[in-house]
Amino acid sequence: MPYKIGYLIGSLATGSINRTLSEALIALAPDDLEFTEIPIGDLPLYSSDYDADYPPEGRALKDAIKASDGLLIVSPEYNRSIPGALKNAIDWGSRPWGQNSFARKPTGIIGASPGGIGTAVMQSSMRAVLSFLDAPQLNAPEAYITFKPDEFGPDGEVRNEITAGFLRHYMEEYFAFVQRVLDANGAGHIGDEDAETAH
Ligand code: FNR
Repeated sequence: MPYKIGYLIGSLATGSINRTLSEALIALAPDDLEFTEIPIGDLPLYSSDYDADYPPEGRALKDAIKASDGLLIVSPEYNRSIPGALKNAIDWGSRPWGQNSFARKPTGIIGASPGGIGTAVMQSSMRAVLSFLDAPQLNAPEAYITFKPDEFGPDGEVRNEITAGFLRHYMEEYFAFVQRVLDANGAGHIGDEDAETAH
Protein backbone atom coordinates (compact mmCIF):
# COMPACT_ATOMS: atom_id res chain seq x y z
CA MET A 1 0.00 0.00 0.00
CA PRO A 2 1.30 3.48 -0.79
CA TYR A 3 2.25 5.94 1.91
CA LYS A 4 -0.11 8.90 1.99
CA ILE A 5 1.63 12.26 1.90
CA GLY A 6 -0.27 15.50 2.45
CA TYR A 7 1.45 18.52 0.99
CA LEU A 8 0.92 22.18 1.78
CA ILE A 9 1.84 24.94 -0.66
CA GLY A 10 2.76 28.11 1.19
CA SER A 11 1.78 30.36 -1.72
CA LEU A 12 -1.73 31.34 -2.82
CA ALA A 13 -0.43 32.94 -6.02
CA THR A 14 -1.56 31.89 -9.47
CA GLY A 15 1.54 30.62 -11.21
CA SER A 16 3.37 29.96 -7.94
CA ILE A 17 6.91 28.71 -8.47
CA ASN A 18 6.48 26.64 -5.33
CA ARG A 19 3.48 24.90 -6.85
CA THR A 20 5.67 24.18 -9.88
CA LEU A 21 8.32 22.82 -7.53
CA SER A 22 5.73 20.61 -5.83
CA GLU A 23 4.73 19.14 -9.20
CA ALA A 24 8.37 18.30 -9.90
CA LEU A 25 8.81 16.71 -6.47
CA ILE A 26 5.72 14.56 -6.96
CA ALA A 27 6.87 13.48 -10.43
CA LEU A 28 10.31 12.51 -9.13
CA ALA A 29 9.19 10.86 -5.88
CA PRO A 30 9.31 7.09 -5.27
CA ASP A 31 6.19 5.28 -6.49
CA ASP A 32 5.40 4.23 -2.90
CA LEU A 33 4.33 7.79 -2.09
CA GLU A 34 0.82 9.02 -2.90
CA PHE A 35 0.28 12.78 -2.71
CA THR A 36 -2.79 14.83 -1.77
CA GLU A 37 -2.74 18.61 -1.48
CA ILE A 38 -3.96 20.02 1.82
CA PRO A 39 -5.49 23.34 0.78
CA ILE A 40 -4.94 26.39 2.98
CA GLY A 41 -6.45 29.22 0.96
CA ASP A 42 -10.01 29.12 2.32
CA LEU A 43 -9.18 29.03 6.01
CA PRO A 44 -10.42 32.01 8.00
CA LEU A 45 -7.83 33.78 10.11
CA TYR A 46 -7.41 31.61 13.18
CA SER A 47 -8.80 32.75 16.53
CA SER A 48 -9.18 30.74 19.72
CA ASP A 49 -12.84 31.76 19.57
CA TYR A 50 -13.19 28.91 17.05
CA ASP A 51 -11.80 26.28 19.41
CA ALA A 52 -15.18 25.31 20.83
CA ASP A 53 -16.58 24.67 17.35
CA TYR A 54 -14.17 24.51 14.41
CA PRO A 55 -15.63 25.63 11.05
CA PRO A 56 -15.65 23.10 8.17
CA GLU A 57 -12.41 24.50 6.70
CA GLY A 58 -10.59 24.03 9.99
CA ARG A 59 -11.97 20.53 10.48
CA ALA A 60 -11.04 19.60 6.90
CA LEU A 61 -7.47 20.71 7.51
CA LYS A 62 -7.14 18.66 10.68
CA ASP A 63 -8.78 15.62 9.06
CA ALA A 64 -6.41 15.85 6.09
CA ILE A 65 -3.36 15.98 8.36
CA LYS A 66 -4.66 13.04 10.35
CA ALA A 67 -5.18 11.05 7.14
CA SER A 68 -1.55 11.64 6.09
CA ASP A 69 1.39 9.40 6.95
CA GLY A 70 3.68 12.37 6.40
CA LEU A 71 3.57 16.04 5.48
CA LEU A 72 5.55 17.97 2.90
CA ILE A 73 5.66 21.75 3.12
CA VAL A 74 6.63 23.52 -0.10
CA SER A 75 6.76 27.24 0.54
CA PRO A 76 8.15 30.59 -0.48
CA GLU A 77 9.88 32.91 1.95
CA TYR A 78 8.03 36.14 2.67
CA ASN A 79 10.02 38.93 4.24
CA ARG A 80 12.53 36.43 5.58
CA SER A 81 9.86 34.34 7.26
CA ILE A 82 6.83 32.06 6.83
CA PRO A 83 4.03 33.36 4.53
CA GLY A 84 1.03 34.42 6.61
CA ALA A 85 -1.43 32.03 4.93
CA LEU A 86 0.80 29.07 5.76
CA LYS A 87 1.42 30.15 9.35
CA ASN A 88 -2.34 30.58 9.72
CA ALA A 89 -2.87 27.00 8.52
CA ILE A 90 -0.29 25.73 10.99
CA ASP A 91 -2.02 27.60 13.81
CA TRP A 92 -5.32 25.96 12.83
CA GLY A 93 -3.71 22.52 12.80
CA SER A 94 -2.06 23.07 16.16
CA ARG A 95 -5.30 23.68 18.06
CA PRO A 96 -7.61 23.24 19.98
CA TRP A 97 -5.17 22.89 22.85
CA GLY A 98 -4.31 19.24 23.40
CA GLN A 99 -5.28 18.30 19.83
CA ASN A 100 -2.13 19.32 17.97
CA SER A 101 -2.34 17.58 14.59
CA PHE A 102 1.40 17.90 13.90
CA ALA A 103 2.62 15.85 16.86
CA ARG A 104 4.88 12.98 15.68
CA LYS A 105 3.94 13.63 12.05
CA PRO A 106 7.04 13.25 9.85
CA THR A 107 7.48 16.49 7.92
CA GLY A 108 9.68 17.72 5.10
CA ILE A 109 10.34 21.39 4.42
CA ILE A 110 11.44 22.69 1.03
CA GLY A 111 10.99 25.89 -0.89
CA ALA A 112 11.94 27.88 -3.94
CA SER A 113 12.77 31.51 -4.46
CA PRO A 114 14.18 33.42 -7.42
CA GLY A 115 16.92 34.61 -5.06
CA GLY A 116 20.09 32.88 -4.01
CA ILE A 117 19.07 32.20 -0.42
CA GLY A 118 16.33 29.87 -1.70
CA THR A 119 13.94 30.21 1.29
CA ALA A 120 16.61 29.29 3.87
CA VAL A 121 15.39 31.88 6.37
CA MET A 122 11.75 30.77 6.04
CA GLN A 123 12.83 27.17 6.56
CA SER A 124 14.74 28.11 9.69
CA SER A 125 11.63 29.84 11.08
CA MET A 126 9.49 26.86 10.09
CA ARG A 127 11.79 24.44 11.87
CA ALA A 128 11.37 26.37 15.10
CA VAL A 129 7.58 26.28 14.76
CA LEU A 130 7.47 22.56 13.90
CA SER A 131 9.87 21.70 16.70
CA PHE A 132 7.54 23.37 19.17
CA LEU A 133 4.69 21.35 17.65
CA ASP A 134 6.65 18.09 18.11
CA ALA A 135 6.78 17.35 14.38
CA PRO A 136 9.87 15.30 13.45
CA GLN A 137 11.61 16.96 10.50
CA LEU A 138 13.82 15.67 7.71
CA ASN A 139 17.11 17.35 8.65
CA ALA A 140 19.23 16.27 5.73
CA PRO A 141 19.36 16.87 2.88
CA GLU A 142 18.35 20.50 3.19
CA ALA A 143 16.82 21.90 0.01
CA TYR A 144 17.09 25.60 -0.75
CA ILE A 145 15.99 25.92 -4.35
CA THR A 146 16.97 28.94 -6.43
CA PHE A 147 14.23 28.75 -9.02
CA LYS A 148 15.31 29.12 -12.64
CA PRO A 149 12.21 29.15 -14.87
CA ASP A 150 14.01 27.53 -17.80
CA GLU A 151 14.70 24.42 -15.72
CA PHE A 152 11.05 23.59 -15.06
CA GLY A 153 8.43 22.60 -17.64
CA PRO A 154 4.76 21.64 -17.30
CA ASP A 155 3.51 18.59 -15.41
CA GLY A 156 6.52 18.27 -13.14
CA GLU A 157 9.12 18.23 -15.90
CA VAL A 158 12.65 19.16 -14.78
CA ARG A 159 14.92 19.92 -17.70
CA ASN A 160 18.20 20.22 -15.81
CA GLU A 161 19.41 16.71 -14.94
CA ILE A 162 21.48 17.91 -11.96
CA THR A 163 18.45 19.63 -10.44
CA ALA A 164 16.27 16.59 -11.22
CA GLY A 165 18.82 14.31 -9.58
CA PHE A 166 18.94 16.45 -6.46
CA LEU A 167 15.14 16.62 -6.15
CA ARG A 168 14.85 12.86 -6.76
CA HIS A 169 17.43 12.24 -4.03
CA TYR A 170 15.55 14.60 -1.68
CA MET A 171 12.33 12.61 -2.17
CA GLU A 172 14.08 9.27 -1.71
CA GLU A 173 15.53 10.52 1.57
CA TYR A 174 12.14 11.95 2.54
CA PHE A 175 10.50 8.55 1.97
CA ALA A 176 13.12 6.76 4.07
CA PHE A 177 12.65 9.37 6.81
CA VAL A 178 8.86 8.93 6.85
CA GLN A 179 9.30 5.19 7.19
CA ARG A 180 11.81 5.63 10.06
CA VAL A 181 9.52 7.96 11.99
CA LEU A 182 6.43 5.76 11.55
CA ASP A 183 8.51 2.83 12.69
CA ALA A 184 9.69 4.74 15.76
CA ASN A 185 6.12 5.83 16.45
CA GLY A 186 5.15 2.17 16.58
CA ALA A 187 2.36 2.77 14.10
CA GLY A 188 1.80 1.32 10.69
CA HIS A 189 1.09 3.65 7.83
CA ILE A 190 -2.39 4.83 6.90
CA GLY A 191 -2.81 2.37 4.06
CA ASP A 192 -1.56 -0.58 6.12
CA GLU A 193 -4.70 -2.38 7.23
CA ASP A 194 -2.73 -4.87 9.34
CA ALA A 195 -1.36 -2.19 11.64
CA GLU A 196 -3.61 -2.21 14.68
CA THR A 197 -2.00 0.92 16.09
CA ALA A 198 -2.16 2.91 12.88
CA HIS A 199 -3.49 6.36 13.73
C1 FNR B 1 8.77 37.92 -1.51
N1 FNR B 1 9.89 37.32 -2.07
C2 FNR B 1 10.95 36.97 -1.26
N2 FNR B 1 11.96 36.15 -1.73
C3 FNR B 1 12.95 35.76 -0.89
O1 FNR B 1 13.82 35.02 -1.31
N3 FNR B 1 12.98 36.18 0.40
C4 FNR B 1 12.04 37.00 0.92
O2 FNR B 1 12.10 37.34 2.09
C5 FNR B 1 10.97 37.42 0.07
N4 FNR B 1 9.97 38.21 0.55
C6 FNR B 1 8.82 38.37 -0.18
C7 FNR B 1 7.71 38.95 0.41
C8 FNR B 1 6.53 39.03 -0.31
C9 FNR B 1 5.30 39.59 0.35
C10 FNR B 1 6.47 38.56 -1.63
C11 FNR B 1 5.18 38.63 -2.42
C12 FNR B 1 7.58 38.02 -2.23
C13 FNR B 1 9.91 36.95 -3.49
C14 FNR B 1 9.38 35.55 -3.66
O3 FNR B 1 10.44 34.62 -3.48
C15 FNR B 1 8.80 35.36 -5.07
O4 FNR B 1 7.73 36.28 -5.24
C16 FNR B 1 8.33 33.94 -5.30
O5 FNR B 1 7.89 33.82 -6.63
C17 FNR B 1 7.19 33.59 -4.34
O6 FNR B 1 6.87 32.22 -4.46
P1 FNR B 1 5.56 31.74 -5.24
O7 FNR B 1 4.41 32.53 -4.75
O8 FNR B 1 5.82 32.04 -6.72
O9 FNR B 1 5.51 30.28 -4.97
